Amino acid sequence: MRAAPSDLPLVLDGVSLAAGGTTILDRLNLTIMPGAPTLIVGPNGSGKTSLLRLCMGLAAPSKGTVSWGGRTHLPQTRRAIVFQKPVMLRRSAAANVAYGLAQAGCPRALRARRTEELLDRVGLLALASRPARRLSGGEQQRLALARALAREPEILLLDEPTASLDPAATRFVEEIILAAAQSGTKIVMASHDLGQVRRLAGDVLFLVRGRICERADAADFLDRPATPEAAAFVQGELVI
Ligand SMILES: Nc1ncnc2c1ncn2[C@@H]1O[C@H](COP(=O)(O)OP(=O)(O)OP(=O)(O)O)[C@@H](O)[C@H]1O
Ligand SMILES: [Mg+2]
Repeated sequence: MRAAPSDLPLVLDGVSLAAGGTTILDRLNLTIMPGAPTLIVGPNGSGKTSLLRLCMGLAAPSKGTVSWGGRTHLPQTRRAIVFQKPVMLRRSAAANVAYGLAQAGCPRALRARRTEELLDRVGLLALASRPARRLSGGEQQRLALARALAREPEILLLDEPTASLDPAATRFVEEIILAAAQSGTKIVMASHDLGQVRRLAGDVLFLVRGRICERADAADFLDRPATPEAAAFVQGELVI
């Protein structure tokens, strides 16, 4: 049997994205390799969510190419994305995870046990039978993470996955993310939280107005930013 083709490296070659007459992402060249999490940071509207959608293959670039393991058309089976406002099926929390498992080809006989394990991993086992759409925003984010992990992705794209979480839930989710990274999943994650960047990131991609302003190891970005824009952002000043 042939091994499934790898999604890595993920390469953006001269990628631009335009919509509604504006350029959202402008000539990005980027290679994402296996390893510690890559965090995408930048001001509101700088293009982080748009970049994640391109990395998932949900949007096609207006110019340039996106490729996964050298292929421009690779099915999404080995990558997963968690949106900031996840869309839940009109079913129970458990059924949402079971659906993710079914999509990932998990045999029916194993699904109930795997669903329990995944709900437990994100701290939602007690809410397994609750309708997913009735869960709070933070609970839905954690459920979406469980559903994404069910796919055992090689690349996990996360759009501000802790934006609606309280501090304890944030730490909890960060531990899940780190555990996934340590078991070989490549995490690419948008975040506004510089503390989180320090806790999670291997490297940082700093976007300003749809362009890559700086790419650096996390410690260098935070402690020795190379550009005035990054220095301002790290200082908590407005970057536009
Ligand atoms: N379909 C679209 N049509 C027109 N403009 C769009 C479209 N999608 C995104 N944009 C614009 O592109 C820019 C980047 O949006 P994006 O959501 O990627 O930013 P972001 O960095 O994720 O912002 P935030 O930090 O607020 O989540 C924004 O100015 C947004 O209004
Ligand atoms: Mg966004």
